[in-house]
Amino acid sequence: MKGVLVVFEGIDGSGKSTQAELLYQRLKEMGLNLYLGSEPTDSHYGKIIRKISDVDTDISLPLEEEYRIFLEDRRLHVKEKILPSLMAGRVVILDRYYHSTMAYQGAKGMDPKRIEKENESFAPRPNLLFLMDLDVNEAIKRIRDHRGSRLDSFEKREYLMKVLDLYRSFNHSYIRRIDAKRDKIEIHQEIFNEVKRLIFERGKG
Ligand code: ADP
Ligand code: TYD
Repeated sequence: MKGVLVVFEGIDGSGKSTQAELLYQRLKEMGLNLYLGSEPTDSHYGKIIRKISDVDTDISLPLEEEYRIFLEDRRLHVKEKILPSLMAGRVVILDRYYHSTMAYQGAKGMDPKRIEKENESFAPRPNLLFLMDLDVNEAIKRIRDHRGSRLDSFEKREYLMKVLDLYRSFNHSYIRRIDAKRDKIEIHQEIFNEVKRLIFERGKG
């Protein structure tokens, strides 16, 4: 595989989309060939996911079914976008990937190791994963200030704390923990330096 796979992970409001976009723009200015994607995608599976996670609707699915929908959405994304982009030598930047499933469905009671194994049967491992590490209270405050969204319930807080604990327990050599409470440009610079190093190392090989 010629391309490189860079993933952003973290709880809602931790700054993933902001950093994925800053990195995309920076690498684009350098003339690199890129693909920027996010999960859930806008496939019909992604649309079902949005419907069930909408706070205004009261639909909930059995955990295994919810898991299957995230898995099918990702399977399509890998097949149609991620693998072809990597084959074409692009830098692939993802805002969420299978570590989201390990953390979010893991926090609802599934075994993260099982989720990892099933995903890795079809989804390539990242070369770099930036874990945007931010306290739940700070993340919720950011979302409230900027989006006016209703993430504020006690249940949601408790859930996100479990999700964050799981993210923090993941231990792989490709994971870089990012202190996400700092200024976004400072964070971007740290991320860009890591990605530049990775691309340079690849270029030498
Ligand atoms: P995510 O994609 O993880 O949900 P976003 O990138 O959408 O998070 O960021 C959530 C909110 O916080 C946005 O309104 C964004 O502008 C703001 N934000 C992002 N990074 C920072 C930062 N380093 N400091 C302060 N606010 C930030
Ligand atoms: P997203 O659209 O990234 O939300 P946000 O922009 O608020 O971060 O993701 C929607 C929700 O789906 C988010 O709360 C995380 C959750 N999710 C899972 O539970 N499992 C998964 O595998 C993925 C990819 C997302």
